[in-house]
Amino acid sequence: MNFSNSLLQWYLQNKRDLPWRNTTNAYPIWLSEIMLQQTRVAQGLPYFIAFTEAFPTVFDLAKANEEQVLKLWQGLGYYSRARNMHKTAQIIVSNYNGNFPDNYSGLLKLKGIGEYTAAAIASFAFNEVVPVVDGNVYRVLARYFDIETDIASSSARKEFTALAKELISVDNPALFNQAIMEFGALQCVPKNPNCGICIFSSSCAALQKKKVDKLPVKLKKTKVTNRYFNYLVFLDKENNTIINKRTEKGIWQNLYEFPVIETNEEVGFETITEAVKTSFSDLKIESVSPYNNQQIIHKLSHQKLHINFYKIMVSDKIVDGIELDLLKNYPFPIVIYNFIEKYSI
Ligand code: ADE
Repeated sequence: MNFSNSLLQWYLQNKRDLPWRNTTNAYPIWLSEIMLQQTRVAQGLPYFIAFTEAFPTVFDLAKANEEQVLKLWQGLGYYSRARNMHKTAQIIVSNYNGNFPDNYSGLLKLKGIGEYTAAAIASFAFNEVVPVVDGNVYRVLARYFDIETDIASSSARKEFTALAKELISVDNPALFNQAIMEFGALQCVPKNPNCGICIFSSSCAALQKKKVDKLPVKLKKTKVTNRYFNYLVFLDKENNTIINKRTEKGIWQNLYEFPVIETNEEVGFETITEAVKTSFSDLKIESVSPYNNQQIIHKLSHQKLHINFYKIMVSDKIVDGIELDLLKNYPFPIVIYNFIEKYSI
């Protein structure tokens, strides 16, 4: 049996029953594909369920306010995905009568929908013969065909897409695309795949050549920047604190946070105390104390955040403050949300 037929047969016997697979409605398919970018199925599934309950149709999502969308997204990371998704829902309602474009090139025109997502929706919802190429597909093809092209290089997508195009089942593109991704997610996994039980154990080029752990080749190492965030948790006698919306471009845009002093390197308690007194001279500060003994490290794809929280008691009522009890209604970066929960702030 050839590669594609073997793969389809494997899929029918091994696939997971996932809610976005039991539909050809582009809306939940789109939601799931945006959520599953950079996110594993086990982590994304509860978010998918929560989103489809809160916003059963694209009209519901379009009508929501952005804060509600970000709150439901809290913890998934890469928050621009959520903001773009919300804007795209509004465009689909206002410019497309609530119907997704029914083909690859139409889908590509939408904000936040790139080649991968357009191919996924076009095939799963409309059975268009376009191959998906994600990390799973790179891995499966690189190994099966022994392709040493650097998957981080600019030419890789073209090369792998052309190969996937030759392999895709023209009678069942949706099934083929699901199958190759599922095969990468369950069998041809990045580390220590169990090749002994693989359906391709006698035809996989990488296995024959003992190169499974060398493929796919990914040369470009992402450069990681260290950042130092010192969060100031002000508290007055009536349990009011201060939070701000992060409006600048970059991480966490439109999420909330405590006032922050960002420094270029690690700084001590005295430096922060001085900075607080200078920057917040309008507040009557009673005391400054570290909240957490151990610095919190929060890793993002391109940044490593070193986070400290400080508790700052003030004697006057905080003007324009927010009651601690209301914090839970706002979308926070998960590291701040976890801190609020841990210390029952
Ligand atoms: N990852 C990305 N898209 C997926 C899908 N449709 N099913 C399972 N995992 C996925």
